[in-house]
Amino acid sequence: MAARHVRRPMNEPPTVPAHIAIIMDGNGRWAKERGLPRREGHRAGAESVRECVEACKQLGVRYLTLYAFSSENWSRPANEVSALMSLLERFLEQKAEEMMKQDVRLKAIGHLERLPEKTRRRLRSAIERTAGNTSMTLVLALSYGSREEITEAARSMVHEAVEGRLTPGDVTPDLVASHLYTADIPDPDLLVRTSGEMRVSNFLLWQISYAEIVIFKKFWPDFAQADLFEAVDEYRRRHRRFGGL
Ligand code: IPE
Ligand code: IPE
Ligand code: MG
Repeated sequence: MAARHVRRPMNEPPTVPAHIAIIMDGNGRWAKERGLPRREGHRAGAESVRECVEACKQLGVRYLTLYAFSSENWSRPANEVSALMSLLERFLEQKAEEMMKQDVRLKAIGHLERLPEKTRRRLRSAIERTAGNTSMTLVLALSYGSREEITEAARSMVHEAVEGRLTPGDVTPDLVASHLYTADIPDPDLLVRTSGEMRVSNFLLWQISYAEIVIFKKFWPDFAQADLFEAVDEYRRRHRRFGGL
């Protein structure tokens, strides 16, 4: 019975995912359950972010990508969007110092030009301030949509072709990947989603081709370090085949 949970032989190093991507879902429902406004759920969710960064650092995970705001989330009521932007601004201001202490570098992916000027300024400043940190990279997906990203990549390749810098034969998976927001980031090994939804909601569609998926029923504000460790344990038990045997 226990055999199912036997890991790899003792002499093999335990595999830690190099890159974990998380769809942080369920803030609104968490708040609703408590009779609170949705923004209180988002506020509580920011605490789970801190826990996750901490857990990833302990494990030696190199990249953590968090889906914080999707292209489609712009369609939410204006007061929710502005509450999310204010929270993000506060997060960036407060956490920059902590990221410096923890040697964490911040990056962002998405259609960032769409963010309000103040949010963008805070983001730019935190990214610049932490640029020299090397222990771990925290990637925030903001105004992010995978279809937009892939469309943008196609558009820029067509531009290069029109200018005579690219021929059809040059177009390879590596070339496409190099035109995505994630050009300098390895593909996620592990994709986590909270709130029990079994969908990817336009997140890293190209990059998660071979990611292992772990879904948690609990809402994002209830997600803690122990859950991240559990996801990684589950990942270690998986047998990744990449189409082979
Ligand atoms: C995730 O929680 C945060 C964002 C999408 C910004 P939700 O706001 O989607 O919460 P639910 O899914 O409605 O509960
Ligand atoms: C995905 O959650 C986006 C983020 C977590 C930022 P959503 O709540 O927007 O996704 P759907 O609407 O359930 O697919
Ligand atoms: Mg949701």
